[in-house]
Amino acid sequence: MLAAHGVSLRYDGVIQAVDRIDFQVEKGGLVALLGPNGAGKSTLLKAIAGLLPFEQGELVEGQLTFEGRSLAGVHPAAIARRGIALVQEGRQCFRSLSIEENLRAASLVARKGAGARLAMVFEYFPVLKEMRHRAAGHLSGGQLQMLVIGMALMSAPRLLLLDEPSLGLSPAMVQTVFDVVERMHRELGVTLVVAEQTVPRLLKLATDVYVLARGHIVMHTPPARADQETLQRVYLS
Ligand SMILES: Nc1ncnc2c1ncn2[C@@H]1O[C@H](COP(=O)(O)OP(=O)(O)OP(=O)(O)O)[C@@H](O)[C@H]1O
Ligand SMILES: [Mg+2]
Repeated sequence: MLAAHGVSLRYDGVIQAVDRIDFQVEKGGLVALLGPNGAGKSTLLKAIAGLLPFEQGELVEGQLTFEGRSLAGVHPAAIARRGIALVQEGRQCFRSLSIEENLRAASLVARKGAGARLAMVFEYFPVLKEMRHRAAGHLSGGQLQMLVIGMALMSAPRLLLLDEPSLGLSPAMVQTVFDVVERMHRELGVTLVVAEQTVPRLLKLATDVYVLARGHIVMHTPPARADQETLQRVYLS
């Protein structure tokens, strides 16, 4: 579904964030993209979603394709319409708008079926339904994370990219988020790439594991072989 061949990504013409990587996502897969701080995870996800030019970033070599078509130079809105959604770090939404208004705004990419998708998001996240008139700016970190995942679902993605969804959340909230990740994968058939530093639950759900470190793919393995000991060794080296 998604393929990066020999892809290098740079900021400001000099900062090499990702260096000649090969990375593939099969349709229906759930790929864990692991790696320490500064590994290049967010950069890769932003490149897929077309957001690098907004940070003086660029694809300097290699091919990045989605369903056989290049993503290079494509506007983020066009990429969203092709069926890719990215939930970025930082839980961005319209803080002065209510939960429901944020969800409806996020459906502008794919208006058809928006009513049914809103009902689905409320079913996945009952707390968002209860609080649907509350301003997003008044939500807790966990509630905001649910909102931004819900917003991504409103665009009816076929490929959903989640950037460190567990960051700063309590263990119980991390479970809730990964319950939803599991349901989206199983029930909606959404293909997922989930970037995290370490989340044991993600390794249980993943169909494929990549480890990125300092811009290089240092490990690509089926999840059964990505035990804590191996990962620690890879991280430490
Ligand atoms: N907007 C930017 N301009 C310049 N350099 C950047 C920018 N964003 C990231 N970088 C650099 O690119 C490299 C990769 O960063 P990236 O944010 O992709 O890492 P990450 O794996 O997502 O890390 P983290 O787990 O801390 O989020 C780092 O060296 C970082 O300093
Ligand atoms: Mg990051």
